[in-house]
Amino acid sequence: MKELKILAVVVFFTLVTYWGVEPYAHSVMHKHVEGHDFKYPDINASKVKGNAQNGKNLIASCAGCHSIKSQGIKAPMDVMNASATYGVNPPDLSNAGAIFDEKFLIAFLQNPAHTAKAKPNFAMPPSAGSEQDAADIVAYLKSIAPKEITPKEAYVTACGRCHANSYGKWTQIGDVPKTKFNIKTKNDVKLAEFKINVAKYQDKLADYMGKLPPDLKVIVRARSKHFLETFVEDPQSHLPGTAMPRVGVTKEGFEKIYEYLESTGDPSKAKREKVGPIVLGFLVIFAILAFLWYKSQWKGLKD
Ligand code: HEC
Ligand code: HEC
Repeated sequence: MKELKILAVVVFFTLVTYWGVEPYAHSVMHKHVEGHDFKYPDINASKVKGNAQNGKNLIASCAGCHSIKSQGIKAPMDVMNASATYGVNPPDLSNAGAIFDEKFLIAFLQNPAHTAKAKPNFAMPPSAGSEQDAADIVAYLKSIAPKEITPKEAYVTACGRCHANSYGKWTQIGDVPKTKFNIKTKNDVKLAEFKINVAKYQDKLADYMGKLPPDLKVIVRARSKHFLETFVEDPQSHLPGTAMPRVGVTKEGFEKIYEYLESTGDPSKAKREKVGPIVLGFLVIFAILAFLWYKSQWKGLKD
């Protein structure tokens, strides 16, 4: 009887705690943020029509900071000098037209910090004289964008300047060089130099952003897809006041980036999904065999 009373008290308090804490945990610690499917409803679509040819003539102003490797335009500074100057390396623009939303870009070029909902110290200055210029430049970026880009290229263009991905062997200054430790060659020296440069870059980046952006190697395991989608669409919706800018990717652009994050954070997913049914099939066959064996063992013994 006493045990029953104790049980009742325990159950009562467990339920009260659950009832009180669970909704709190959901609404505050995991608040639900509604996504907008990367439509950016707060940005008005531009009514002017861009002219790619004019855009090509205007792109020289961007090339003062950005490379466009697919068009043979080299970066004016190497990555270390760029990070010392801006706090972050301006991304290569070869794929910009493929992953960033058109109306976002047109607004962004005229007013970058505001459009990206970034801090006032945002390193990209307003870079288009007028809405027409912005539309022309964006038309040009679209015209040079490849039809198909890889998940990694999408990640590098949109996230790679701030977020390392160590399982993908990506650092903010590029891929980790493929070198074997070999004292006879100078490879280990090269690797050590590379690591020092990564540390220097991260130092500048942390100064610029207020903190070092996290390594995204296993983010797909730590966060749901819904979280990542709504966070990338508008970081402020989850972390008011955060320094991470809204980068303005399209829905397809996000899917590519997610594919890359999944490939580093959960590389065995495809394999697991393939192996699952085989394991289940094996269990069924095993159960049937065990049953038949059981039958054969008892055969003739029962009565
Ligand atoms: C003074 C140097 C400078 C100039 C000039 C400049 N940019 Fe940038 N741009 C940057 C830097 C730095 C960043 C990265 C800022 C950050 O992530 O905090 C950036 C970011 C970007 C991005 C990434 C946007 C995103 O949402 O992630 C695009 C696209 C871009 N610039 C396009 C352009 C174009 C097009 C021009 C020319 C019209 C241009 N930039 C001119 C420095 C510059
Ligand atoms: C200009 C730098 C910059 C770029 C570009 C950038 N981020 Fe971030 N990101 C940050 C910073 C800074 C933080 C830390 C935010 C904080 O704690 O306030 C962050 C945090 C995050 C987080 C952690 C959120 C959490 O609470 O778990 C995720 C996920 C993330 N970024 C994903 C991305 C993805 C995906 C991209 C590319 C589409 C991207 N970021 C582009 C700077 C950046």
